[in-house]
Amino acid sequence: MTNVDPLWFKDAVFYELHVKAFCDSNDDGIGDFRGLIQKLDYLEWLGVTCLWLLPFFPSPLRDDGYDVSDYRGVFPDYGSLDDLRTFLQEAHRRGIRVIADLVLNHTSDQHPWFQEARRSPESPLRSFYVWSDSEKKYGKARIIFIDTERSNWTWDPVAKQYYWHRFFSHQPDLNYDNPELRKAMLEVMAFWLDQGLDGFRCDAVPYLIEREGTICENLSETHEYLKDLRKWIDERYQGRILLAEANQWPADVRPYFGDNNECHMAFHFPLMPRLFMGVRSEDWHPIVDMFTHTPAIPDECQWCLFLRNHDELTLEMCSGEERDYMYYAYARDPQMRRNIGIARRLAPLLENDRRKIELLNSLVFTLPGSPIIYYGDEIGMGDNVHLGDRNGVRTPMQWNVDRNAGFSKADPSKLYLPVITDSIYGYQTTNVEAQLQTPYSLAHWMKSMIAIRKKHPAFGRGTIEFLRPRNDKVLVYLRQYRDETLLMVQNLGGSAQAVELDLVKFAGAVPVELFGETRFPSIGDRPYMLSLAPYGYYWFKLRQAPSEETAYGIEGSVI
Ligand code: BGC
Repeated sequence: MTNVDPLWFKDAVFYELHVKAFCDSNDDGIGDFRGLIQKLDYLEWLGVTCLWLLPFFPSPLRDDGYDVSDYRGVFPDYGSLDDLRTFLQEAHRRGIRVIADLVLNHTSDQHPWFQEARRSPESPLRSFYVWSDSEKKYGKARIIFIDTERSNWTWDPVAKQYYWHRFFSHQPDLNYDNPELRKAMLEVMAFWLDQGLDGFRCDAVPYLIEREGTICENLSETHEYLKDLRKWIDERYQGRILLAEANQWPADVRPYFGDNNECHMAFHFPLMPRLFMGVRSEDWHPIVDMFTHTPAIPDECQWCLFLRNHDELTLEMCSGEERDYMYYAYARDPQMRRNIGIARRLAPLLENDRRKIELLNSLVFTLPGSPIIYYGDEIGMGDNVHLGDRNGVRTPMQWNVDRNAGFSKADPSKLYLPVITDSIYGYQTTNVEAQLQTPYSLAHWMKSMIAIRKKHPAFGRGTIEFLRPRNDKVLVYLRQYRDETLLMVQNLGGSAQAVELDLVKFAGAVPVELFGETRFPSIGDRPYMLSLAPYGYYWFKLRQAPSEETAYGIEGSVI
């Protein structure tokens, strides 16, 4: 990669995808690395700078690959290790980095480690997992997959003991108290970093270690372990990153950054539902309040912001009342609910309202952190709530109107999941090709937004200051980095709004709207007045105007 700035991730625009869902090159109904290579031009066109690949390792696929049965291979239907290497080269050639899931917490019960562990109590592999004679141990730990699991222990008739699992019962947890296991996982990491991966999304990190009498989440021993991982990676692989998946309150996520000696990045889980609440209730308080509860993180670290991903829109980090509100607002049909959350894509959640889709993207692209786009959301893809588990949001990417949305030439019945065909989000109406040909499509707008973000380092690196205007519907904040000041004004309301801003400290500066490069009236010593269309937003750069520069965007127009 030519950009060797070790803090590249602070300016990155991430794109999350599953190889199986993107493009099928050999017509077997399942996407593969060769197909993905063919689509890299599209991703380059869009402007994303780092891909996050969902698990592509051999697996019985009972948890979409998060049930790994071999940490050092590629699931054969997705291609070979050589294909993966070619893909990495091709992505890097285009300036696109790639991180992948590192499923640390558990394996599949089909993993040879577990198979040997359960069969022989004498084997050193036995203590790669967590066993007990009693299912009463660690009784304070909550159950995460409440739809399917009744206990975190499952009896294994072969081992004649219970094994510990925080997720599905076919996913036994690994035992991080065992130094041999730790060593084995470092070897796994080295294997993938040597192939050229730029880092890992570290799956389910809060649950790595368990202790009696605790909730078995976020333990100090877990943090010590992550510090070891970080030290190891820093010594050998400069510029590679660890992104923590810790679905926790901000105060509990903060330690995952350490003193910049744990993870480089962490998802901001609790912010996500508050963005949806803010828009639905037309009120900036839920969003601003979440930031007042978010501790500062080291300068070299970064939040990762997202609207949707491959899982349900989790409501775990919500109060009971907030959860009820979210279900009421976004998932009245019980079919849309999974575990503690809502298994829907962005566009259907927002009733396909282009204005709201833009506004929510505008928020994740301008609040502090690096944004992630979930594949297909850049064209407003829909979901299928009738598919089981979280499959409704994991359907094939929609490329064009050809058979199977241009994803695969296979017999439609062979597809890993059916394509979306409904009249609103079906591939006949919602697809990449159509959007590329329509200059005002969502995809074109996403491309412009990404390009604008990339031009202004303050988005990725700047401080934030909320302005708290009297109009509750208008969210306003400043992002500042070095000599750049950006002003974001966003109308969470579904009706036109006016807002008065106290910008006196910037008197003399000219707000330049970044999408149109349009100059607005300069800031004086009175309140600055703005009006916004329903769900409208302005991204301004505040420019110190030389005295002769007085023209506004409207001058020179014939009115
Ligand atoms: C992943 C889920 C997966 C779970 C258990 C999560 O953190 O995002 O998709 O089901 O880990 O592996």
